[in-house]
Amino acid sequence: MTDDSYRTHFKPMPPPEEVFESAEFMLKECPVAHSDQDGGFWVVNRHRDALAVLTDWRTFSSPGRVPAPPPGIQAPPMPPIDLDPPLQRDFRNIINPYLTPEVVEIFKPRIQKIVTELIDQFIDNGCCDLSGQFARPFASRVTFEILFDLDDPAQLELNLGFVHTMTYEFGSPKQPAAEKAWIEWMLSFVRQRRAQAPRHNLIDGLIHGTVDGGRPLTDEELYGAIMIITLGGFGTTADAIGNLMIRIAEDRSLQSQLRGDLGKLPDAIEESLRLEPPVSGVARTCTRQTTIGERTIEASERVLINFTAANRDPERFDDPGRFDMARDPAHLAFSGGPHRCVGSNLARLDIRLAFEELLTRMKNIRITPGDQVKRVSNAAAWWVPNYVPITFDRAG
Ligand code: HEM
Repeated sequence: MTDDSYRTHFKPMPPPEEVFESAEFMLKECPVAHSDQDGGFWVVNRHRDALAVLTDWRTFSSPGRVPAPPPGIQAPPMPPIDLDPPLQRDFRNIINPYLTPEVVEIFKPRIQKIVTELIDQFIDNGCCDLSGQFARPFASRVTFEILFDLDDPAQLELNLGFVHTMTYEFGSPKQPAAEKAWIEWMLSFVRQRRAQAPRHNLIDGLIHGTVDGGRPLTDEELYGAIMIITLGGFGTTADAIGNLMIRIAEDRSLQSQLRGDLGKLPDAIEESLRLEPPVSGVARTCTRQTTIGERTIEASERVLINFTAANRDPERFDDPGRFDMARDPAHLAFSGGPHRCVGSNLARLDIRLAFEELLTRMKNIRITPGDQVKRVSNAAAWWVPNYVPITFDRAG
C-alpha cells in the first residue's frame, strides 16, 4: 500500500512487508488512525499516546481482541492478561514473586544447561535453523523445565507442539484440536501436582494461591493463567532471539563488537526489542467516550496500540530507524501500565545467556549463502522470523 489507505484499511495483522512502512506512514499522517477492517478499530501509534492508553486501564479495558477471534473460536479467558485491576492485580501478586530479577538469577545454571544442550546438537554441523533448532525449543524448555519443574522429554515435546500451534498456527484448522489436547494435558498435570507436596514454583503458587479476597482460583482461571504464562514466554522470547541473530549475522562489525564485549549484550537486546518488538501491538476496549490526540473514541470501540510504531516514534527516539546501543531503553516492547510484561526479567536473562554462549562457541556467523530468512505473522506479531538459516565456524 502506498496511498493514504492505512488511514482506513490498516489490517489487524498487516503482512510482514508492510509493517514498518505502515508504522512510518501512520506516525506522520494519522497518528491516531481508524481502520474499517475487522469490524472497525482505532490504531494508536505515537509513543506518548500509547503510554497514556496503557496506563489508563479504567478507560481502556483489557482485552480488546484485534483481530477478533475467528468465528467458532472461543479464546479461553487468560488471567491476568484478560482482566482489569483489581482482580488482575491479585493474579500478578501470585505470579510476580516467582519472576523477580533476584529469583530469575537463581535459574541461571539451569538456563545455561539448556542452552549448552541445544547448541551441542548442531555445533558440529556448521549450520542450523536458529529458530527451529534453538530459539523455540529453548523458550519452551525454560518454561516447562524451570517454571513448571517438568522434566519428562516426551511431555516436553508434546508441549512444544501445543505452544507452536497456538502461537504460529493460531486460527488454523489445527488449533482447536491442539488447544483441547493441551487443556486435557493441563488437567492431568494440575491433578498430579495437587496430590503432591507443594514445591516452591510458579505452578504450585497458582494452585495454592488465592484471589478476590481469599478464594482459590477456579479451574478455568488456573488453566488460563498457565496458558498465558506459557504462550506469553514462548514465541516472544524465540522471536527476539531470531531477530537479534539476524541482525548480528548481517552486521559483522556489531558481531565482533558484541563478541569482544559480552557486557554490551543487554543494550543490544533492548535495541533489538525496540526496533523489532516480538509483540507488535496489544488491544484494549474503550469504556467511555474519550479523546486520544485529536480523535474522539466512543465507548465499546476497540483500540490497537501499535508498539512497532511507538518504538519508532521520532518524537521519542532520535533517528528512530538506527540501531543504537547507547539509547535509553524507553521502548514499549514489554508494554506499560498494569499489564507490563511479568516475564521481562526472565526474557532478558534468557536472551542474554543464549547469546553469551552462541557468540562464544560460534564465529563468522552469517546467513547461509543461497538460503534466506523467512518472516511471517503469528498470533501476537506481524514480523516474526520463522526460519533463520545461519552458517558459522566453530570457535575454539
Ligand atoms: C522478549 C520476550 C517477551 C516479550 C516481548 C513480551 C511482551 C509482553 C507484552 C507486550 C505484554 C503486555 C500485554 C498487554 O499490555 O496487554 C506481556 C504480558 C505478559 N507476559 Fe510477556 N513478553 C515476553 C516474555 C515473557 C515471558 C518469558 C513470560 C513468562 C514467564 C511472559 C509472560 C507474560 C504474562 C503472563 C503477561 C500478562 C501480564 C498481565 O496481563 O498482567 N512474557 N508480555
